[in-house]
Amino acid sequence: MSIMYSGGCSVPSFSSISVSNSSRQRLPNRIICSAGASVAERKAVNTSEPLLLNAVRGKDVERPPVWLMRQAGRYMKSYQTLCEKHPSFRERSENVDLVVEISLQPWKVFKPDGVILFSDILTPLPGMNIPFDIVKGKGPIIFDPVSSAADVDKVTEFTPEEWVPYVGEALTILRKEVNNEAAVLGFVGAPFTLASYVVEGGSSKHFSKIKRLAFSQPKVLHALLQKFTTSMAKYIQYQADNGAQAVQIFDSWATELSPADFEEFSLPYLKQIVDTVKQTHPNLPLILYASGSGGLLERLPLTGVDVVSLDWTVDMAEGRKRLGTDIAVQGNVDPGVLFGSKDFITNRINDTVKKAGKGKHILNLGHGIVVGTPEENVAHFFEVAKGLRY
Ligand code: CP3
Repeated sequence: MSIMYSGGCSVPSFSSISVSNSSRQRLPNRIICSAGASVAERKAVNTSEPLLLNAVRGKDVERPPVWLMRQAGRYMKSYQTLCEKHPSFRERSENVDLVVEISLQPWKVFKPDGVILFSDILTPLPGMNIPFDIVKGKGPIIFDPVSSAADVDKVTEFTPEEWVPYVGEALTILRKEVNNEAAVLGFVGAPFTLASYVVEGGSSKHFSKIKRLAFSQPKVLHALLQKFTTSMAKYIQYQADNGAQAVQIFDSWATELSPADFEEFSLPYLKQIVDTVKQTHPNLPLILYASGSGGLLERLPLTGVDVVSLDWTVDMAEGRKRLGTDIAVQGNVDPGVLFGSKDFITNRINDTVKKAGKGKHILNLGHGIVVGTPEENVAHFFEVAKGLRY
């Protein structure tokens, strides 16, 4: 496989990508003016599939699609400006207009191949009777951490349309705005990772509270995990029904578990979510991310997801081999690389894409963009990535 740039001496081939004019339908959209009159909007509705979906499905693509975890956020000046006006994270992430505006900030500047909803894995918690806040400098705070069977009993089943209608509305608007030029991505937290916040009361270093629960009262933790499983499966279905074209499941802290404990406290619940969603949405790609997952890699495809997202502590070529050829991979450039020189960034992108091989690869970082990352380096990352050709 050779990698080249579109500006180089080799002419890039566009033939493998299905964006022919015949597949674009011109459907006049009816919009209502404030005066009440109806006018025909001459916006073409693009019915071709986004590159990211074609890549996941193993179709012939000209380059790997690219988006970056946490591509909306504090490293962007436009986000910082908006934070001054709206200092509450809950407000920024629970108001349709703000959610749409923030989700579109990186889209407008970098044109990634995936546009992720601006939200948080903790956003559904109040809808399960678990109030929380995210405080600058402190991170997530759960006001009444769960520690007993009685606390688990109080956790209610999540009904997304009732508790987070702004998520559905925002996804629907994003689909129209992005118009299949990129895939609109939804996401949820995995049961174990959600439980770790809810039991620890926030972020944690040693995960001692959730381990105390797991290793002394496993039935109580299993009851909590089952509640999150049922609710998150419903939440994925809700996101897909309202416009998400792929959904990423974040099990960021599952790798705090030993492989045997992962098999007891995370894997069966992830599998149950995937099985439930695949029954109603068989074609919805599901991406699984767990940070530091090197020791668990062979177990991750057992969940049934379509894509495994690797962090940078795994060599991409070795990761591919260990995961098998059926599954697609995402990742896995070290977010710290974005603090490097432009040449260094270019080299690491090339190295990753080469090691991932042709197709079934979504280029991404191995975890979220770090606050303080120079925006121009993010721009460089996208420019290089989008200029690649297999
Ligand atoms: O990728 C994107 O651009 C979408 C936005 C997104 C956020 N959170 C916004 C956010 C996504 C995908 C998440 C997921 C999330 N939230 C995860 C899984 C991903 C991972 O990093 O492993 C986790 C563990 C959380 C919980 C959480 N929320 C943490 C640990 C923090 C950081 C706390 C802090 O004070 O920095 C948050 C807050 C949060 N969520 C921020 C953003 C942009 C930063 C705070 C802010 O912008 O005000």
